[in-house]
Amino acid sequence: MLTLAERPDGLNILRPESVADGLPWLAAFAGAYQAIWSEPPYNERFSSEEASAVLQRALRIPDQITLLAVRDSGVVAGFAMAFPVASKPDVVRDIRGLLPIDSTYYFAELGIMEQWRQTGLGRQLIELRLQLIDRARFTHVILRTSATKNAAYEMYLRLGFEDTGVYMEVPSRRNDGSFRTDRRLFMAKVLDG
Ligand SMILES: CC(C)(COP(=O)(O)OP(=O)(O)OC[C@H]1O[C@@H](n2cnc3c(N)ncnc32)[C@H](O)[C@@H]1OP(=O)(O)O)[C@@H](O)C(=O)NCCC(=O)NCCS
Repeated sequence: MLTLAERPDGLNILRPESVADGLPWLAAFAGAYQAIWSEPPYNERFSSEEASAVLQRALRIPDQITLLAVRDSGVVAGFAMAFPVASKPDVVRDIRGLLPIDSTYYFAELGIMEQWRQTGLGRQLIELRLQLIDRARFTHVILRTSATKNAAYEMYLRLGFEDTGVYMEVPSRRNDGSFRTDRRLFMAKVLDG
């Protein structure tokens, strides 16, 4: 497994390349995943099995880029994933005709635990994923963010993502146990060659 960065705050940014690489971090990842997505505006409830499956599934996707910000003690402070959008059929359905499917990456699941926020980690996980994409094969990146246009929306704009004006309803189980959709906005970025 590659260590991509060692931060002064003691966090290391790892790039697991297989399910076996991810295994030691699975339980801590699941805990972080559950905590982050239970917050507003998402209010999502995942079991630890569902959360663990997110990491395991991501690590099996061809050309995936998964990043974990961790401490040696076993803490997962943040995570981010990316893979060709062709591996995400529900998104392909909504953006077909808008972007070239075969040369577009999808950025998924960026989350930083609350106590580690606003120290540049979120931005770093975006920039690292952008750097790791093979520019000879991929020309665009697309992601979904909450339609509520919070700090994440502003952050993506500053990092060169554009508001596409296209929205999607994402179904999920919520903290109260109900199964509802929430509205997400697609933001896209053209990659330099
Ligand atoms: C959004 C999130 C990933 C940002 O992570 P972070 O590590 O705090 O981000 P950074 O410290 O790198 O900050 C990135 C930029 O956003 C700004 N920012 C971050 N959080 C902010 C906040 N709550 N209010 C105002 N600005 C904020 C920073 O000032 C920084 O600005 P800059 O681009 O001018 O440097 C984090 O808040 C999070 O995990 N939220 C919950 C999950 C989520 O919303 N994920 C994104 C879904 S697409």
